[in-house]
Amino acid sequence: MRYSVKVDPPDKINADCVVVPIWNKAVLSDEAKIIDAASAKAISKILHFKDFSGKLGETQLIYNPINVKAKRILLVGAGNKNKLDAKAAVKLISSTLNLIRNSKASSIHLALSSLVVKNRNSTWLAARISQESEIASYQYDATKSTKAKAYAIKSISLNILNGGRRKSIESALKCGQIIGKAVNHARELGNLPGNICTPTYLARHASSLASRHRSVTTQVLSEKQMARLGMGSLLSVGNGSAEESKLIVIQYKGAKSNSAPFALVGKGITFDTGGISLKPGAAMDEMKFDMCGAASVVATMGAVADLKLPINVVGVVAAAENMPSDRATKPGDIVTSMSGKTIEILNTDAEGRLVLCDALTYVEKFKPRSVIDVATLTGAAVATFGSHANALLSNNEKLANTLMQCGEYVLDRAWQLPLWDEYQSLLNSNFADVANIGGPRAGTITAACFLSRFTERQKWAHLDIAGSAWHSGSRKGATGRPVPLLVEYLSRQKA
Ligand code: BES
Ligand code: MN
Ligand code: ZN
Repeated sequence: MRYSVKVDPPDKINADCVVVPIWNKAVLSDEAKIIDAASAKAISKILHFKDFSGKLGETQLIYNPINVKAKRILLVGAGNKNKLDAKAAVKLISSTLNLIRNSKASSIHLALSSLVVKNRNSTWLAARISQESEIASYQYDATKSTKAKAYAIKSISLNILNGGRRKSIESALKCGQIIGKAVNHARELGNLPGNICTPTYLARHASSLASRHRSVTTQVLSEKQMARLGMGSLLSVGNGSAEESKLIVIQYKGAKSNSAPFALVGKGITFDTGGISLKPGAAMDEMKFDMCGAASVVATMGAVADLKLPINVVGVVAAAENMPSDRATKPGDIVTSMSGKTIEILNTDAEGRLVLCDALTYVEKFKPRSVIDVATLTGAAVATFGSHANALLSNNEKLANTLMQCGEYVLDRAWQLPLWDEYQSLLNSNFADVANIGGPRAGTITAACFLSRFTERQKWAHLDIAGSAWHSGSRKGATGRPVPLLVEYLSRQKA
């Protein structure tokens, strides 16, 4: 997809389709007025029928308008003037793209200079347009024998948006494109089936990231190397699997090498059967998505490198497959984590925390400025938040607040749950330092409490994305969340 800025008035733009907004009650935007005046009132004549009222997301195509260079005009409803908020703007963009992708128009121009989005500036809107456009163009076909039809839209131009400068709009279009591509990158990894996307596949994939970017290096720890480091907890999860577990370390250097990095840690369970605590069969296929935290970390590292952020970032992926077998971990087994703490594994289906705790101990060696782990960790997070919020728990209020603000800004929202000491005793074990489950209540909180035992010395936040990482049903597929949130957080940091 090509993105550009064009400064000609909307009636003089050479494109297959020019998009102009119409406000509620059929009020013409400034751009619509220009086209209307040039085209002997082509727009007013249509609005006269009252079929189209300018309601948010409404669309109406006009063909071959006279005295207008473009072959089509798309009227798009922008809703109440002065009431266009960020969510409404995204709806406007996506209804526009959805309509055009089903036409034969391949070059489109968005004449949206009069749009003012509440609490957002013009660069936000420009970045969002390219981001949404990349996300709309994604089609999964890696394991289909007929490949997807090419996406209809090839180029998108914008006029200079309200209050913006050409240079800043152009660079915003670039940034949005990078973020959109990163979201698709995470979706693709998430969507690949468990027999292809194994821990070894994820490791090779991460290494290929390093070969594409001079600023990125990767290191993959084998089971043997992890055993030497004492990662008994992580290793216990892959015991039942023929696939070798991997710890994947991705380093991005955008600042001086002595600048402490920001750390991301991803849960990479490439398939979660539950192990000996076997899951019920219904919808078990969706447990191929249990590596979506890892996918978001890998894709975010790629975006950070593409954006050339002026900071250092380290991404760690704890990858394993959770299978039952004669060699699998059994309920009641006790393992020793890298931290030295012993863990009684009362339920082998609570495996995410077992891989994460060793990865969280491992990142300590980088002395990170903050650590964010991302994991499809608990069904309880789905019960609590459904699909809209990333569950957030943290031992640092400032970090938690920053993450919530970032999520709000990019519409990849997180909502905080308490990490109170009162919940910690639910993890008491008669036989080890800590149990890996806290009983049937407050499951998202007790999972985070478990992780907090391994992050006491760090400024840490945990994102439980069990509800937000993929859609079920007819739209089944990975969402790429929380890549936008992570990229926004890192973009706000300085070396
Ligand atoms: N990967 C699952 C969490 C999950 C379940 C995410 C369903 C999305 C949908 C995780 O490994 C798991 O099985 N968690 C258990 C923990 C329990 C045994 C304490 C859960 O949530 O049931
Ligand atoms: Mn599980
Ligand atoms: Zn899991």
